[in-house]
Amino acid sequence: MNLLIPESEFLSQIVKYTEEAIILVDVNFCVQYMNNTAKRMLDVENEDYENKHFYNDLELVRVAQGRSMSIIEEVLQTGKAIRHVFRQTKNDRHVSMNVIPLFEDGEQKAILVTALDVTDYMEMEKELDLAFALTLPNSKIEYKLKSTVEYQDIYDRDSGQITITGIIEDGGYRHVVNCLKIFSILSARGVTKVIGINKDELVQAFIFHDIGKSQPILHVGDVVNPKEAFEDGRLHAYRGAEIAKAFYHQSDIVVDIIQYHHHSEHELPESFSWRLLPMFRLFQLVDGLSAAITRGGVKVEFSVFDCKVQVTETNHRPQYNGTWQIDLYTGERKRLL
Ligand SMILES: [Fe+2]
Ligand SMILES: [Fe+2]
Repeated sequence: MNLLIPESEFLSQIVKYTEEAIILVDVNFCVQYMNNTAKRMLDVENEDYENKHFYNDLELVRVAQGRSMSIIEEVLQTGKAIRHVFRQTKNDRHVSMNVIPLFEDGEQKAILVTALDVTDYMEMEKELDLAFALTLPNSKIEYKLKSTVEYQDIYDRDSGQITITGIIEDGGYRHVVNCLKIFSILSARGVTKVIGINKDELVQAFIFHDIGKSQPILHVGDVVNPKEAFEDGRLHAYRGAEIAKAFYHQSDIVVDIIQYHHHSEHELPESFSWRLLPMFRLFQLVDGLSAAITRGGVKVEFSVFDCKVQVTETNHRPQYNGTWQIDLYTGERKRLL
């Protein structure tokens, strides 16, 4: 490798000129180093930041709403890196953060925080959200979606219990927006050209499918058995279908997809015709991926080959990474990687 200049010089030039903020924090949360981008991004160019507390003194980044623990605290506790989380700075910029523990001889010595300013991107998203809200049938639907919470949690396999780690206040709305985003990517890849896939009906099904949902009121830190705390999904599916039919005059096809969206294929009634299955399978695929994306920590990529959809998932927890292929016509699911 020929760096052309001495390695230390090369590295210091990268740190100096990168558009990514770089901050080094010790195990007591005290900032030890910030590059120029970090100082500029976080408005501390004229402040003496050294040895000051990341949150209490400098208030560089806000602890996310509904979270009991800061992200740095979480990384210190677990010793595992957390990547691509969105946070707001004290001067109302939006940043995408990576928080990485640094070890020496197995001992956690420091935390490296890198952050990219994504404010412009978030503003664009907000505008798209506003435009999307205009396409909703009426303000009651918007109100219902925006007041349906979704919970982030950690599952304990031994006890079967979950611990609530975060609350997404407008989770229902975010979920539908994410469903439509995923569906638009798949449409661009050609999925709506497949016989049996109707774009307009699927869009309506996404908008209405969880409208009958009633979530329990939980708080961060609550430990619950999910089977007891949350009602069977088939119940809100049934209610959602009734609402879509009675109040919003949706077609039989849309109503059927909503009614059975939490049923497995083998539980479907005989009256559920084969011609609906490709749409039903695509709906369940998008619904599941959107739920994971809405709760955070998952990135997905897609390709479409005729009636086969290929999905590659990249998770916070790499053990869940993988590539799957779903055949919308036969229902066959294959794991590729
Ligand atoms: Fe649902
Ligand atoms: Fe859903």
